Amino acid sequence: MASVSVDEAMRRAITLAARGLGTTSPNPVVGCVLLDPDGEIVGEGFHAYAGGPHAEIVALAQAGKRARGGTAVVTLEPCDHTGRTGPCSHALIAAGVARVVIAVPDPNPVASGGAATLRAAGIEVTTGVRAEEAEAGNIAWLTSMRRGWPYVIWKYAATLDGRSAAADGSSMWITSEAARIDVHALRGTVDAVIAGVGTVLADDPRLTARNLRDGTLAIRQPLRVVVDSSGRTPADARVRDGAARTWIATAAEVGAGPDGRVDLPALLAELHHRGVRAALLEGGPRLAGAFLAAGLVDKVVGYVAPKLLGAGPTALLDAGVTTIADAIDLELTDVTQVGPDLRITALPRKREA
Ligand SMILES: NC(=O)c1ccc[n+]([C@@H]2O[C@H](COP(=O)([O-])OP(=O)(O)OC[C@H]3O[C@@H](n4cnc5c(N)ncnc54)[C@H](OP(=O)(O)O)[C@@H]3O)[C@@H](O)[C@H]2O)c1
Repeated sequence: MASVSVDEAMRRAITLAARGLGTTSPNPVVGCVLLDPDGEIVGEGFHAYAGGPHAEIVALAQAGKRARGGTAVVTLEPCDHTGRTGPCSHALIAAGVARVVIAVPDPNPVASGGAATLRAAGIEVTTGVRAEEAEAGNIAWLTSMRRGWPYVIWKYAATLDGRSAAADGSSMWITSEAARIDVHALRGTVDAVIAGVGTVLADDPRLTARNLRDGTLAIRQPLRVVVDSSGRTPADARVRDGAARTWIATAAEVGAGPDGRVDLPALLAELHHRGVRAALLEGGPRLAGAFLAAGLVDKVVGYVAPKLLGAGPTALLDAGVTTIADAIDLELTDVTQVGPDLRITALPRKREA
């Protein structure tokens, strides 16, 4: 087998890491490629689920003795603590690798320190290789660990003129089946789905991740969160069925903001505490406006249907913008056609303090 460069090995490790997206939480996604002293790939692995073996351990098991004197290329700093599995730093030392190449340091104070332990054992450690790419692949986990609240993706569906329903309130279905299938796939990658009580009262959504054709539930279900200041969610609401865990987050439990409604930063801190690293905010327009006004949205995913209504509720209500200079500026990162609709992905630009 031909030898590969460390850079190529890191690219491969990043691709491997992505296979764990949606199943590793509250852990990060991690990929690892082991090269023997001649630069040949002798082991590969990724972290597949929390509690399961870490990427380095999977790769070391494959490589066996061929890891000795070689290079471990890993997307995140190897852990240095004993959690549900042992420290990867120790496993790498025991396997006799000569060099460890890391893309991104571990921001988690409980697990970090792997690089220092490896260096202390005489192993050459290089960091920052393809860091930007590896960071992008782990953005939700890294962001949430650094600041202590989940990465929030606001998803909405609208017509080309930005409406979420017709004047008579009918909204089934603004976007196509293909777009709705895409949304269910997106739900499968997050730890929580958040909706306001207004949406629950109006639409009685299930908020589960499922196969739209036959209704089969995905194996891993996000926590369903209803933001409901005074507990108005009906006892027979579909979000209360047993299909997935549900949290009706009231102001009494979470705390109230200045307007008496659920305090959103406190809500996110509590979700982080419960192991939520990525959350999908599914509206409606009032709650989405409040999240955006508070600067709590990290990514916007809009499904836009080639339809016009000319009247009816809009996809977003008051987001704290009264003049054009204050518009929430977005940077487009992707535009993809999904069936007849467009999926537009954008990142809010940081606002000047
Ligand atoms: N196009 C789309 O993508 C989309 C997605 C979802 C929903 N919708 C549509 O949106 C409509 C419902 O809209 P909506 O605006 O009434 O519902 P909403 O945004 O889902 O819920 C709003 C409610 O959330 C509660 N809330 C609790 N804490 C809050 C806070 N800090 N800030 C803001 N709200 C807070 C408030 O009620 P309490 O104070 O009583 O708690 C508020 O009235 C439905 O017709 C639905 O079809 C469209």
